Amino acid sequence: MSTMNTSSFPLPSRLELRQNERSLKDCAQFLDSPESVSTRNEEPIIKLRGVYKDFQQGKETIHALASTDFTAYRGEFIALLGPSGSGKSTLLTIMGGLQQPTGGSVNVGGRDFTSLGSRQLAAARLNEIGFILQSSNLVPFLTVNEQLDLYDRVAKLRHQPGHTQADRDELFTSLGILDAKNQYGSELSGGQLQRAAIARALYAQPSMILADEPTASLDSKKAFAVADLLREQAKSCNTCIIMVTHDERLVDHVDSIYRMEDGHLQREK
Ligand SMILES: Nc1ncnc2c1ncn2[C@@H]1O[C@H](COP(=O)(O)OP(=O)(O)O)[C@@H](O)[C@H]1O
Ligand SMILES: [Mg+2]
Repeated sequence: MSTMNTSSFPLPSRLELRQNERSLKDCAQFLDSPESVSTRNEEPIIKLRGVYKDFQQGKETIHALASTDFTAYRGEFIALLGPSGSGKSTLLTIMGGLQQPTGGSVNVGGRDFTSLGSRQLAAARLNEIGFILQSSNLVPFLTVNEQLDLYDRVAKLRHQPGHTQADRDELFTSLGILDAKNQYGSELSGGQLQRAAIARALYAQPSMILADEPTASLDSKKAFAVADLLREQAKSCNTCIIMVTHDERLVDHVDSIYRMEDGHLQREK
């Protein structure tokens, strides 16, 4: 974690990060193998302290998130459960720097997200965080394979190594979407869309993946497969994965369970 220095910006290069990380190829290989290589690092990847969020709607204040403390580590696979409207997405988007809390501190990879400007936040997100959102948020006019170009283009601009097509194919194969790599979003099934979104999130080898109901559009067999896959990613690549879900059946797949109710977060496991 010595490269994670709060005071230095720009962020550590991928080359530096890679010295501590497995290659994408290694990660993809591990997706096929149940063996876990995860060890808990001492430094949390994310730390929230006294984080809360209010929304103003006319004269009414909505307390979407009550004061919340939360800590998670690399390699940890976490489920965030709770009824609709309880504040799960609010919490997840704050963790990912997609919106700022009303108060409190958000520390990701040693950086204080609440003190970063929007450009710095965007850079930090790109380096640290993979998002798998409910609406799959793939670019509609790009094929599955082309979805990954943006990441390589940014890496190139920064004179950082991208990945090869062979690396990509290996990832697609582990996700069972190699056949679909030249198809557009509109040509894919719900399950393939979810897997393409997962491929894109994994491609950048983030320290943390935030997934908002990634199994929502899947039948239970496919939902379990996705949960297993995320679990493998967490263990083989030492990624912290925080997954919002309605699905109580997925709890056996995760290391930790948190439940949200009326903006209050509680740890269950
Ligand atoms: N941008 C917003 N403006 C106003 N209210 C919001 C906004 N986002 C969320 N809320 C409210 O905050 C609460 C929590 O919402 P959300 O985090 O989306 O819950 P969940 O993801 O658990 O369904 C809800 O009452 C919701 O209506
Ligand atoms: Mg939500």
